[in-house]
Amino acid sequence: MKLIIVGGGGREHAIIKKLKENPAVEEIFALPGNGGMTDDAVCVDISAKDISGIAKFAKENSIDYAVVAPDDPLVLGCVDKLEDMGIPCFGPRANAAIIEGSKVFSKNLMKKYNIPTAAYEVFSDLNAALAYIETAPMPTVVKADGLALGKGVIIAQTREEAKAAVLEIMQDKKFGASGDRIVVEEFLEGPEVSVLSFTDGKTVVPMISSMDHKRAGDNDTGLNTGGMGTVAPNPYYTKEIADVCMEKIFLPTINAMNAEGRTFKGCLYFGLMLTKDGPKVIEYNCRFGDPETQVVLPLLESDLLTVMKAVTEEKLSKTEVRFSKNHACCVIMASKGYPQSYEKGFEMNIPAEISDSVYVAGALRKDGKLLTNGGRVLGATAVEETLEKAIKSAYALVDRISFENAYFRRDIGARAMKAGKE
Ligand code: AMP
Ligand code: GLY
Repeated sequence: MKLIIVGGGGREHAIIKKLKENPAVEEIFALPGNGGMTDDAVCVDISAKDISGIAKFAKENSIDYAVVAPDDPLVLGCVDKLEDMGIPCFGPRANAAIIEGSKVFSKNLMKKYNIPTAAYEVFSDLNAALAYIETAPMPTVVKADGLALGKGVIIAQTREEAKAAVLEIMQDKKFGASGDRIVVEEFLEGPEVSVLSFTDGKTVVPMISSMDHKRAGDNDTGLNTGGMGTVAPNPYYTKEIADVCMEKIFLPTINAMNAEGRTFKGCLYFGLMLTKDGPKVIEYNCRFGDPETQVVLPLLESDLLTVMKAVTEEKLSKTEVRFSKNHACCVIMASKGYPQSYEKGFEMNIPAEISDSVYVAGALRKDGKLLTNGGRVLGATAVEETLEKAIKSAYALVDRISFENAYFRRDIGARAMKAGKE
């Protein structure tokens, strides 16, 4: 089989490595991929947002199956285009990807179908939003409606901060048209859990739970990033909580999307907060999380391509999705300065013996050398019998990798180690 995977980060590298385990897979093309994954896939210089370029490539190369991983092409209708050409795909169509593409849509969906989430108001008028902030309880959370590279969420401690956020998004258009509307919502507290799930629109199969570390600095300080590391499973996510989530969140969401005529097929990501009033949805993503995927897929014992095809063919209820009992830890190595400005072009050294445990997110191959080419450069993942060992082994991998200006958090997994002891 010939496959394409749309996207080019660490998540895509993890998906590719897992797909390759199936002997029927002859060739995987990554569009655009990156220089650090050339041992695993053929990288083709077509942007993940170039939907007609992707479609043309798929047709010319007689592609049998496509996996569309990032939010942008999903929201832009990449799956619609490929499916309409007769190419089976993993990923939601645009009318379902809106669950991530518009926060206003997802909040209204949750309200309409009684799915637990933070209380909220929607504004398309700047002055109305500013007036609301005058009386809103603080802290509050201001969110741009559309996609904003994971940066469109501002947690404001004071009214001044909240007003500044509203002005930045609605007046200065920091996130472009994504800020034409905003959601202002209640600030929730509690441990966060990421649950990725496979769904074919009929059945929903949650994957092993995970914990992201979004802030740039140790002890959850500093700016929000795309994610600086992950562990799986998430120790806060007990069997009892999982059962509540299935009944009150996962199934109601799938059913709600069906009722709206927007059947969701693919990976639906539930970003949850375990509040004292029970689990609530913080966000939906219409795709695999990054870097959650780099700990979740290494623990998947079933064949990924078989599961993905079962989703496409709506046969998920008949397919086994099994995870190992082990623990995984992924530490992201970034360029110093990320998520703000950073230098790139530094030579990377990844020993060949550990390359199976490394998912490259931002690298360029030039004159036979691998050079850093992004904010998040790579993730190093270790799988062990305990969380403690997984953390230790992940940092042992990091110690063996080098590039100038490397930055990583030293406390990935530390919060998870404390779970139940607070
Ligand atoms: P998002 O981009 O929606 O995942 O939001 C980024 C981060 O902001 C989340 O992972 C949470 O840590 C935080 N966040 C979002 N919404 C809320 C909320 N209503 N209350 C508290 N924290 C939130
Ligand atoms: N790690 C969070 C996300 O993928 O959106």
